[in-house]
Amino acid sequence: MNSGKKIMLSGVKPTGRPHIGNYFGAMRQFVELQNTFSGYVFVADLHAITSLQNKEELKQNIIDVVIDYLAIGLDPKKITFFKQSDIAAHTELAWIFNCLTTMPYLMRAHAFKDAEAKNKEVNVGLFDYPILMAADILLYSPDVVPVGQDQKQHVEIARDTAEKFNRVYGETFKLPKEYIVENVKVVPGTDGQKMSKSYKNTIPLFATDEEIKKAVMSIPTDSKGIDEPKDPATDKIFALHALFASPEELAALSERYTKGGADGIGYKESKEILIKNISAFIKPLREKRERIALDQESILEILQEGGRRAREVAEAKMNEVREKVGVKLY
Ligand code: AMP
Ligand code: TRP
Repeated sequence: MNSGKKIMLSGVKPTGRPHIGNYFGAMRQFVELQNTFSGYVFVADLHAITSLQNKEELKQNIIDVVIDYLAIGLDPKKITFFKQSDIAAHTELAWIFNCLTTMPYLMRAHAFKDAEAKNKEVNVGLFDYPILMAADILLYSPDVVPVGQDQKQHVEIARDTAEKFNRVYGETFKLPKEYIVENVKVVPGTDGQKMSKSYKNTIPLFATDEEIKKAVMSIPTDSKGIDEPKDPATDKIFALHALFASPEELAALSERYTKGGADGIGYKESKEILIKNISAFIKPLREKRERIALDQESILEILQEGGRRAREVAEAKMNEVREKVGVKLY
């Protein structure tokens, strides 16, 4: 782990099947970075409890997330893969950060404001979500935190919290930076809004062919005919082509969209091409996932081994924190 490489860290909530927005916006970056960075990917099960309070479902989701990540190519030999709740230092550090953070500051967080705006009942865990996330990050001194755009503010809060602690107690935490890939920072869903489970506009990453077809067919279109020119910049089908077509294919599609006429393309054909491309992309991932899922025992071993490695790093940092805060007497 201590190889002089830069460190990356990210967490994933075990709240159900990942979608292609999660994949392009965040998951794929973990796999790419694992070859040049050392680092950590963990299952944020304590964060999941803010919205998921069902024992059986949570347990299954935790296992499923591990399978998902192995299926996309995350290698536990390169990356320390663990479960947040196995490392008690996350909640301990979150408490100390709570005591340095003001209520008005956390009331500015998007997730809290959105929940309030929708008149949802906000539990204290949801309100405090960004502080637990700051602890998750800062314990491991990462240089970069690969996430989608919607998590940018949370990484900023982690950075603010590190600065605040350093100011009060002396230099302790490295300031982390988000790592966001510009052209996939907000992957659109089948309705053109951000792809999100709560909008019911997702294409699951390990979708069956039937699910892919159903999702693509639900993309709304206007009534333009085949020969009428269409604007690729506003078309919801084209936005998804950008993720799955080769550069040459995308350029050719773009030309057919804009030119129209005899070489024009209708929405039906465009959707058929998209279904074919998404299916070709997902099939090997889905098959690999099915193979990995057969060996649940190895999955638990991976988490336990990762937990041992993560605990060493987190405990060393936590000891430094306890000392600086003044609670360490022996
Ligand atoms: P979530 O499942 O919402 O916890 O998200 C897991 C990761 O996927 C986070 O890094 C998110 O920022 C990222 N993500 C979620 N939805 C999208 C999207 N539509 N486009 C890009 N990234 C996303
Ligand atoms: N909040 C993140 C999400 O919803 C998950 C998460 C928890 C996380 N702790 C983290 C991401 C630490 C990066 C770093 O996707």
